[in-house]
Amino acid sequence: MRRDGSPLAASQTGPRRGRGSLANKTDLNPEDLSRLHFLLVLLRDAADFVSGLVGEAASGSAPAGVPGSGRWSGPAGAVISRTMTSLTLRPGRPDDAGSLADICYTAFATLNARHHFPPDFPNRDVAAGLMAFLFGNPNVYSVVAEQGGRVVGSNFLWTGDPIAGVGPITVAPEAQGGVGRRLMEDVLARAAERGQPNVRLVQAAFNTTSMSLYTKLGFDVREPLACMNGTPPAVVFPGYAVRPATADDAAACADLCRRVHGHDRTGELMGGVAQGAAKVVVHGGKVVGYTTDLGFFGHSVALDNVALMALIGGAGRISGPGFLLPSRNGEAFRWCLTHGLRVVQPLTLMSRGLYNEPRGAFLPSILF
Ligand SMILES: CC(C)(COP(=O)(O)OP(=O)(O)OC[C@H]1O[C@@H](n2cnc3c(N)ncnc32)[C@H](O)[C@@H]1OP(=O)(O)O)[C@@H](O)C(=O)NCCC(=O)NCCS
Repeated sequence: MRRDGSPLAASQTGPRRGRGSLANKTDLNPEDLSRLHFLLVLLRDAADFVSGLVGEAASGSAPAGVPGSGRWSGPAGAVISRTMTSLTLRPGRPDDAGSLADICYTAFATLNARHHFPPDFPNRDVAAGLMAFLFGNPNVYSVVAEQGGRVVGSNFLWTGDPIAGVGPITVAPEAQGGVGRRLMEDVLARAAERGQPNVRLVQAAFNTTSMSLYTKLGFDVREPLACMNGTPPAVVFPGYAVRPATADDAAACADLCRRVHGHDRTGELMGGVAQGAAKVVVHGGKVVGYTTDLGFFGHSVALDNVALMALIGGAGRISGPGFLLPSRNGEAFRWCLTHGLRVVQPLTLMSRGLYNEPRGAFLPSILF
């Protein structure tokens, strides 16, 4: 019965054992109360500690109530030393290139080896070359993740054309788990800030982690891809002339890209022209296809499969691990396979925001 003797209190006593036992706590003597208080404080702090650990594992950040010093004072004044470090993000700097190249090379090599695929970067130097290129490109935004003052990962957003591209994103194998999400959220926020909500990327189809992460962040699977490598077949299609692209081709290529994809990629095309890698295929006096480079970092657009195959036939070489062919394009896929090219690995084109089903033939780059 409650001390105020109210009918409500009276009605809660008796057979309702749970409430009765709570009510009985008021009968504890001061010594019992003191012990109970100590026990409750102990339990509360233990719960904070555990939820902090869970939160840290999930978010990659230091748990609530745990000072950044990595030392936690228990309720009895005990100090527990822990290797607790918080995650910070900051823009990348050219002097990060060396450590980021190490992480990039190791992260991909470790993942690919686990799935018995060749590494995307044959050695660390190639990854270093990519990092140097990225830091030297004003249209590429970079973000670096640090844990305990140590660089543990990075991500890049390519902003030079209407559709933004993401990658490469890499996290040191020992730091994976929560860091990738933070790096992705950062570049997506950056794209939104820039008024570029339409973002795309390509992921290795065997990478269950990245496929899940991107899907959770709003990306949709758009196109299954096959990375193709080998010696490009030197097939010539009568009436289709392949030649190096120049700046004068930019408008025709932009028109073609808009016709097939609904947007242009002139910035990337001009990059390919500057590097001497871009080519166009001309038929009936018109540009009916172009490639910025037949390889991992190049994209190609063509009016139809004949123009696309003419580009592949006239490329002379395939750069990097291979070029990316939409495997739903059975005609071009079979043509490549019957002309000696080999599938290196399956990948997936994913998009967030606007996406038009292509009206023509295309080869995405490793960005999109
Ligand atoms: C891909 C990579 C950057 C991701 O970083 P990470 O720190 O491992 O990723 P995160 O833990 O932040 O995110 C993975 C998410 O997918 C979920 N996930 C992972 N595997 C999953 C699976 N098999 N099924 C369902 N969900 C899965 C995780 O639970 C997590 O979701 P959450 O953010 O909602 O908790 C990192 O693994 C890496 O560097 N890999 C090697 C290089 C690489 O493949 N880069 C990507 C190229 S496309």
